[in-house]
Amino acid sequence: MIETSEFSIGDRIVSAEETEEDSALEKGLRPQSLTEYIGQDKVKENLAIYIEAARRRGAALDHVLLYGPPGLGKTTLAGIIAREMGVNLRITTGPAIERPGDLAAILTNLSPSDVLFIDEIHRLNRSVEEILYPALEDHAIDIIVGKGPSARSLRVDLPEFTLVGATTRAGQLSAPLRDRFGIVQRLELYTPEQLSDIIRRSSQILGIPCTLDGALELAKRSRGTPRIANRFLRRVRDFADVLGNGEITEEIARKALDRLEVDHLGLDSNDRRMLEMIIKGYSGGPVGLETLASALGEEAVTLEDVCEPFLMQLGFLARTPRGRCATALAYAHLGFPLPQGAGEVLPEQLTLADGAENE
Ligand code: ADE
Repeated sequence: MIETSEFSIGDRIVSAEETEEDSALEKGLRPQSLTEYIGQDKVKENLAIYIEAARRRGAALDHVLLYGPPGLGKTTLAGIIAREMGVNLRITTGPAIERPGDLAAILTNLSPSDVLFIDEIHRLNRSVEEILYPALEDHAIDIIVGKGPSARSLRVDLPEFTLVGATTRAGQLSAPLRDRFGIVQRLELYTPEQLSDIIRRSSQILGIPCTLDGALELAKRSRGTPRIANRFLRRVRDFADVLGNGEITEEIARKALDRLEVDHLGLDSNDRRMLEMIIKGYSGGPVGLETLASALGEEAVTLEDVCEPFLMQLGFLARTPRGRCATALAYAHLGFPLPQGAGEVLPEQLTLADGAENE
């Protein structure tokens, strides 16, 4: 029998989705410049050059698309881009812009070279997206004035501006929108060492004593995501205050996260449920994402955006054309014996899965 949980993935402490508490906390912790920003070295190096070139030309920066799993610092980077360009930042999200008029109002209020950040840009609706194309390309929008036979299209010029779009799913952007970004950068999950530096920086800003080993222990369990690392810091501080002398040590970090059911690699009960379901419910896979999601009572999108990048980075999950497979490493981590004749990464399952995905 596979254990079920009354909590959905959205409530879990290792969820990368932003909560209100996170956003209040993150505001104070956000690095203000590329030099202060830890990790994502390639992205930083490229952006530094593009920003410098645009500044020298006195022009707006080309449009930027940032994509990758949630919680890695896409909003933070947009803020840094605006700050380094010395312009204003206007923040909104795809689903918040419901009608073309909403976008027109935002665009006509921008000042020259301003940065407009649209989070979850893959969720813009079609009619809004169509207004965006001429805005991005020609710095103008076409507004329909009047109705019926007397309706006419009025072209309104806009200042040159930079759109920074962020998405967890670049594949869902329409090709015309994707093609209008001159700069496309993918953010990667952070290493434990980078996360440990981020935790130490945050602990200094927040005045929470934390040893090197304590920070590294939190970092190792933060599934590559600064948002989770900073959340752990806040939670584990409570344990340090009550169980210790207020300092986050390796032992306190370990005890606290064990109690929160986050294991030494950062898997929580939902990750384990997902792997267990594949192993016990579907003989290790392949199983289609939708089937797996309904068996777990979760949204497929959440499994895909939140659980999978991390489980794949650990080498616990393989995505094949026929569905998801648990790897030998996942069997070992959960303490299940490998099925008879299975190789290192269950190669016969991967071979079996060579066909087209049926979901
Ligand atoms: N806080 C969250 N993400 C960060 C990063 N990449 N660098 C520094 N501090 C951070």
